[in-house]
Amino acid sequence: MILGMVGWRGMVGSVLMGRMLEENDFAYVDKTIFFSTSAAGAKAPDVRGADPVLRDATSVEELAKCDVIISCQGGDYTKEVHPKLRAAGWDGYWIDAASALRMQDNAVIILDPVNRPVIDASLDKGIKDYIGGNCTVSLMLIALDGLIKADLVEWVSSMTYQAASGAGAKNMRELLSQMGYLHAAVSDELSDPRSAILDIDRKVSEAFTKPDFPKAAFGAPLAGSLIPWIDKDLGNGQSREEWKGGAEANKILGLPAHGEPGSMIVEGLCVRVGSMRCHSQALTIKLKKDISCEEIEKLLDNSNQWAYVVPNRKEESIEELSPAKISGTRMIPIGRIRKLAMGPEYISAFTVGDQLLWGAAEPLRRMLRILVERN
Ligand code: HSE
Repeated sequence: MILGMVGWRGMVGSVLMGRMLEENDFAYVDKTIFFSTSAAGAKAPDVRGADPVLRDATSVEELAKCDVIISCQGGDYTKEVHPKLRAAGWDGYWIDAASALRMQDNAVIILDPVNRPVIDASLDKGIKDYIGGNCTVSLMLIALDGLIKADLVEWVSSMTYQAASGAGAKNMRELLSQMGYLHAAVSDELSDPRSAILDIDRKVSEAFTKPDFPKAAFGAPLAGSLIPWIDKDLGNGQSREEWKGGAEANKILGLPAHGEPGSMIVEGLCVRVGSMRCHSQALTIKLKKDISCEEIEKLLDNSNQWAYVVPNRKEESIEELSPAKISGTRMIPIGRIRKLAMGPEYISAFTVGDQLLWGAAEPLRRMLRILVERN
């Protein structure tokens, strides 16, 4: 099996490369060809079995030599290259982090701990495009895996707290620059314990409005603030990120389209907060029947090896349901589980997950391993 890697140098690509090296994934293919859109001919990464030279990522001829291509190059690249490659008769497996192909009929959204049967059935049918899901959706489904597999979820409302990384590397830098800017605006006062907090706050408010306050990437303050809109405006009051919740979750689960009978309703608001790379979600869930919190917790805890239940107590919640703690790990804690006053079928939950790992890179490398396993 010849593997092609495209977009392996960007943020998601680098996280993917790190995980593939950790799991020794390159040893499971005969050869890896690394592609570049800008540096064809230069030296490729020195991984086991790699072609030593970077090849041109826009060359259909070069790409077509691969049996499997993993792309983290982004949606514009996918839209440009994928149709040409297919038109040229290439029938290899295309594994992609970008959303461009996600909702196409002949593409599968990959999240194997949750939808391995959907993936296997699609491979059996000869489907060749396997696309990573939206990070928020993937993280929610892994967290709720136990309840979903038990067919207990009627609907979910997900109010998100999404990290800067979801918007890109430059946005993470801008978040930190904003923090630094705000700190610098009041550092003298902060070092004086007698200074008045309302004077500090006023200076921070003024800093937000200064022309050199860094907000080119986000278009608004995120540090010391938040942004209640993610991705495009669909013109119906919903953001594209919010639309993805219902659309992708049902596709991942192999259910009827969102809103159709038999689908799982997923609604909510998506909000950017000043976390670095962990997305969090406050969930309200309507269950199909009244079961105890103990049973719910057992189902969630035993579902897959990454989701785990955090007892709904103050200390554990603060300690475990923490983007700062979960960052860089594949663990997906879910806690704050309790019955709500709306009725015995209604529960709350709060979950946290690294959006670059399970939210982006991990499903891609696992899809490669599924292909290797079935080859
Ligand atoms: N769209 C997500 C976000 C990241 O902006 O946080 C990628 O799924």
